Amino acid sequence: MKKNEIYLGTSNQNKVKEAAAVLSLYGIKLIHYPLERVEIQSDNLKEIATFSLKNIQENIPIVIEDAGLFINKLKGFPGPYSSYVLEKLGNPGILKLMEYEKERSAQYISELAYRDETGIYNFQGVVEGSLSTNIRGNNGFGYDPIFIPNEGDGRTFGEMSDIEKNNLSHRSRAFKTLGKWLTQ
Ligand code: IMP
Repeated sequence: MKKNEIYLGTSNQNKVKEAAAVLSLYGIKLIHYPLERVEIQSDNLKEIATFSLKNIQENIPIVIEDAGLFINKLKGFPGPYSSYVLEKLGNPGILKLMEYEKERSAQYISELAYRDETGIYNFQGVVEGSLSTNIRGNNGFGYDPIFIPNEGDGRTFGEMSDIEKNNLSHRSRAFKTLGKWLTQ
């Protein structure tokens, strides 16, 4: 066991809740490290997460996540700009951009940058899916009400319970890989 307690630097409580549920399966306690979003402009999630991590001075085992929604027909947009686009256009704006579009495939990607006294390590999780044609469900956050995972039953993440989303999500996949690695 490398660690049984690590920090997650974020301003997003939903991320803490989802990641804590996954890491608890590996006997790892996740502690919220409040962090305001100061992100570099980059089209690479791994670079963004690693840069944010390097800005943290404390000598504690800590992980930063950067996630995004990549829409294939829009050449990966909004990708690393997901939070900005969500704020400006919202889910209705994304659906408007995709109106009349039949090819609706998309993926969520979660990139983790973790650091402890031994170094910096990166982990990734991906979930493939497609965009719904309308906003469905009140659970989750962000783009969840318009994202239908391929391995589900046709419901959006917004229509799933936390446990159901966590069985399939990009975040749970990335944190499972981290959890396995930490318990090796
Ligand atoms: P960030 O990792 O906080 O930069 O997330 C980028 C954007 O993607 C935010 O606006 C989130 O709302 C959205 N996002 C990231 N992960 C998820 C998710 O699991 N569900 C829905 N939206 C997400």
